[in-house]
Amino acid sequence: MSAVLGRLLGVMVLLMGLVQFAGLGYAQAPSAAQGEKLANFHCSRCHVMPGRNNMGIGSTPSFKTMVRSKSSAWRDKFEAFFSLAPHPAFVTIKEMRTERTGPAIIAPIILSLREIDDLMAYVDALATEFRKQ
Ligand code: HEC
Repeated sequence: MSAVLGRLLGVMVLLMGLVQFAGLGYAQAPSAAQGEKLANFHCSRCHVMPGRNNMGIGSTPSFKTMVRSKSSAWRDKFEAFFSLAPHPAFVTIKEMRTERTGPAIIAPIILSLREIDDLMAYVDALATEFRKQ
């Protein structure tokens, strides 16, 4: 192979790498629709979800109650929910290598940071909807 061809090939591989890098999931904006699916799938086991007739668990605040909280900390709590009780017992975040801490009596929830972003997009949409009521 000639040196010129070799260099050309090198540039092409580099370009392909760049294209692939730009195509990573993170290039997409967080999706509230995806977040809603995740919340209905995972969180509705305990939390009452807006627009759904799930029962939830009595002592567990509903998503609607939480996004309407008078305290402005409600959003921080959603962002860090996996580190707030009772969640560390059953939630694992892939990239953070958090390990659930509880005994295997509750089905584990495994989420990525990307999915946390989607959940946040969903609760932000809920807040827009419910905080003005
Ligand atoms: C196994 C039951 C269970 C599941 C599943 C669950 N939660 Fe919770 N969550 C709770 C309980 C119970 C509380 C109330 C804790 C308290 O008041 O001390 C809570 C509280 C919260 C709070 C408020 C935290 C605070 O300290 O004020 C947020 C935010 C939250 N949950 C988000 C989520 C999200 C997001 C999911 C789904 C990815 C989820 N939860 C799944 C049981 C659950």
